[in-house]
Amino acid sequence: MCGEIRGQIYIGDLFWQGMKEVRKEVIRLRNVSKHYPMGKGVVKALNHLDFKVFEGEFVAIMGPSGSGKSTAMNLVGSLDMPTYGTIYLDGGDISEFSESNLAQVRGKKIGFIFQSFNLIPNLTVKENVMLPMMFQGTSIEEREYKADELLKLVELGDRMEHYPGEISGGQMQRVAIARSLANDPEVILADEPTGNLDTKTGAIVMEFLEKLNRQGKTVIMVTHEPYLAKKYADIVYWLLDGELDKVTKRVGKNFVDVTKVKKKEARENGFGKIGKSLRVR
Ligand SMILES: Nc1ncnc2c1ncn2[C@@H]1O[C@H](COP(=O)(O)OP(=O)(O)OP(=O)(O)O)[C@@H](O)[C@H]1O
Ligand SMILES: [Mg+2]
Repeated sequence: MCGEIRGQIYIGDLFWQGMKEVRKEVIRLRNVSKHYPMGKGVVKALNHLDFKVFEGEFVAIMGPSGSGKSTAMNLVGSLDMPTYGTIYLDGGDISEFSESNLAQVRGKKIGFIFQSFNLIPNLTVKENVMLPMMFQGTSIEEREYKADELLKLVELGDRMEHYPGEISGGQMQRVAIARSLANDPEVILADEPTGNLDTKTGAIVMEFLEKLNRQGKTVIMVTHEPYLAKKYADIVYWLLDGELDKVTKRVGKNFVDVTKVKKKEARENGFGKIGKSLRVR
């Protein structure tokens, strides 16, 4: 009896330990910088960014305009290559992938919801949703079927034959969500998914992302809204001037500042501004 009780007491701990160990790392940025040459100078859009995203996590990226959030998302989604540093997708260094292999892996694994929707204006709503599946070699019948299903899911079954210019901003955002799900990705990258929406439509979009996260999908979302990060995210990366300024993590209903832990990690890795500033010589 006693043993059983003890077992119950310790199971929580063991389970938590187990969870920590089995958590699969899906994306990792290791000392990543993105610099753009501009005239005689250089714009340091991102500097020494170092973070890991685990399977099933809901990550928020926050920071003022111009702090590097979209740049970080493009790198996380391997749409862009870093100037310095390494990006790992499922443990593999993406700079070692061939271009076509990377496009294939990215197309299957990651769904993008862009800040500005990025719908193709001369394709219908349905064709926009079908497009990512074409690059994966999915048959036309299946593409049609899946696009139908996804558009019904985001309540746009009656707008499939419209063009993006003929629907509202909120509807465009929902098309972008349907498109992001076309290849049943493990990871969804959403750059300000509610930025152009009214509160009510924004809430529907967020509920949708939360539902996908509960089904096991990893969600990485850029937002300007602290209440959204607080409500949905497990961990928040705060950027400032292209650098990691702060990391906060959910513990129950509250968020705790784990920047120190991240600093320690960076120091152990021996890089990053954070690491450098703490390095003992
Ligand atoms: N292609 C580019 N060439 C030169 N500079 C760029 C380029 N793309 C971004 N930048 C610069 O890099 C910085 C970070 O841009 P980014 O788009 O990542 O910001 P952001 O945090 O997403 O901002 P916002 O909240 O306004 O969307 C900005 O100063 C921007 O001007
Ligand atoms: Mg942006």
